[in-house]
Amino acid sequence: MNNRPIGIFDSGVGGLTVVKEVFKALPNEEVVYLGDTARVPYGTKSDRTIRRFSIENADFLMRFGVKVIVVACNTSSSIALSVLRKRFRIPIIGVIEPGAKKAVKLTGNNRIGVIATPTTVKSRAYEKEIKRISGKKKVVSGACPLFVPLAEEGWLDGKITLDIARKYLRPLTAKGIDTLVLGCTHYPLLKGVIAQAVGGRVRIVDSASSVAEEIRDVLRKGDALSGPSKKPQHRFFVTDAVEQFVRVGERFLGREIKKVRRVHYV
Ligand code: DGL
Repeated sequence: MNNRPIGIFDSGVGGLTVVKEVFKALPNEEVVYLGDTARVPYGTKSDRTIRRFSIENADFLMRFGVKVIVVACNTSSSIALSVLRKRFRIPIIGVIEPGAKKAVKLTGNNRIGVIATPTTVKSRAYEKEIKRISGKKKVVSGACPLFVPLAEEGWLDGKITLDIARKYLRPLTAKGIDTLVLGCTHYPLLKGVIAQAVGGRVRIVDSASSVAEEIRDVLRKGDALSGPSKKPQHRFFVTDAVEQFVRVGERFLGREIKKVRRVHYV
């Protein structure tokens, strides 16, 4: 047993979709969350910048004695995971592998679609991971940069959002995909319109729940799950204004966010 907290970071609020699943799957675990809201978005930045930001975020979480770091950002996971794994001795869990594994399990026709930020698509991280797990699969990727501001603005349905989703997703459905990975932590909020745009036959993989399962497996293997002895005191940190994070973040987390503090290391 190990009652130290789990550290989770994202470029902003998106990683709260992962936190939501962690709260559900691992109710005894205490979470320290960091949203790098001063430097969001990561999805359009260079690899070098994303690696630097990711190391600084992980360094910050290490101050809390975290037992594992979850990189709850697809862009950061696709670019910085290996650097973080070399630098830190605790387990580092990304969001790419769990989503890729689930998609490989679900596809019937071996055609998997992936939607993500431009940087994640450019990195081909999902494609490489899917091919590593199972060589035969065909992967079709598309960047959907407008989905991030739409999710943050709360434009989760309605004609404009649906039209944008249709435009982004048409090239993928035209290739006959039967499974679609939501390769960005913001996208689960738009799952409804995305499902409508791709049609009922395409299965949607929201990797947040797979990530929570992966965390449980890693902690269980290391005999590091928290005991039920105390009520977890979750903490949230941001690198920019607290109010905006709370307003948007409560929608992502699906509950009230308390104890948010601004940090000044950036
Ligand atoms: N959280 C990021 C991701 O999952 C999306 C937002 C951003 O571009 O920073 O890729």
